[in-house]
Amino acid sequence: MTTNAHASGRRAVKAVIPAAGMATRFLPATKAVPKELLPVVDRPVLQYIVEEAAAAGITDVLLVTGRGKTSMVDHFDRRPDVEARLEEKGDQKRLAEVRRTSELADIYTVRQGEPLGLGHAVGTAASHVGDNAFAVLLGDEFVEEDKPLLPAMLDLQARTGGIVLALGEVKPEETSRYGIASVNQSSEGTDIVEVTGLVEKPAPEEAPSNLAVLGRYILPASIFEAIDNTKPGSGGEIQLTDAMAQLLADGVPVHGIIYRGHRYDTGMPLGYLQTVVMLASKRDDLGEEFRSWLAEFVAGGAKG
Ligand code: UTP
Repeated sequence: MTTNAHASGRRAVKAVIPAAGMATRFLPATKAVPKELLPVVDRPVLQYIVEEAAAAGITDVLLVTGRGKTSMVDHFDRRPDVEARLEEKGDQKRLAEVRRTSELADIYTVRQGEPLGLGHAVGTAASHVGDNAFAVLLGDEFVEEDKPLLPAMLDLQARTGGIVLALGEVKPEETSRYGIASVNQSSEGTDIVEVTGLVEKPAPEEAPSNLAVLGRYILPASIFEAIDNTKPGSGGEIQLTDAMAQLLADGVPVHGIIYRGHRYDTGMPLGYLQTVVMLASKRDDLGEEFRSWLAEFVAGGAKG
């Protein structure tokens, strides 16, 4: 194990889910319905994300919400009326599903008065988080349940301290949609790199690598001061990337874990549709029927 002045030896135990953005890429659906509540088969996107946190042992979850977003919190409440009806009907399977949503985690909320950027959204979590490292899970993407990412990130951060990022290989022409990392090899393990620089949305010819920063971060509490010192950057927003770059410049260790599984990105219509199709196809209860309908539809045979 590497000894490191930043290492805490303790795993982060709280997660912050920024979900106060305007979701302009999914308008007009998101005028009144938060994109975090769009259903993937029969669960909202946000539930997959809270499940991902809970599966990694994180059960203190802070949702950063904003105008028109309070219904997100309701999803994790008890619904005694619905539960009573299901009990009357003897529908134990659905009853268990409904109850499970309120048992996954302790959900807290904080408001971001105006969507001033991801960095600003994370900044609103300062008093809830306190002095310990914490996880950030973006509210519109998640990873494969059987290829989790968070446990390895939490373990690495407890070992090295500082920042731990999730990185995914993207096609060269896609670099301008992501934060891109410059990296060195690391002795920490396979698929772990040392991050030496971060650039927000570079053109392909300027990108230092094809490793994009995915929507999972483990951050030290010192990020809050860095966010306070961050001026609005790209798009006039207070960027988390800029605050992380400050810590990097101050000598805080930044590591990345390269994720080899599939990342479901539900923040825009195409990624959302792909997510629904992939997860519906994998379901035990309806996957078989859905796949055979889909194959027929794609071959041009199926009717609506
Ligand atoms: P996005 O970049 O996806 O922004 O933010 P967005 O506003 O949700 O969507 P578009 O780009 O307009 O379509 C990444 C995550 O950060 C949250 C979003 O809710 C999303 O989960 N976020 C972003 C905030 O909570 N507050 C902000 O000010 C910006």
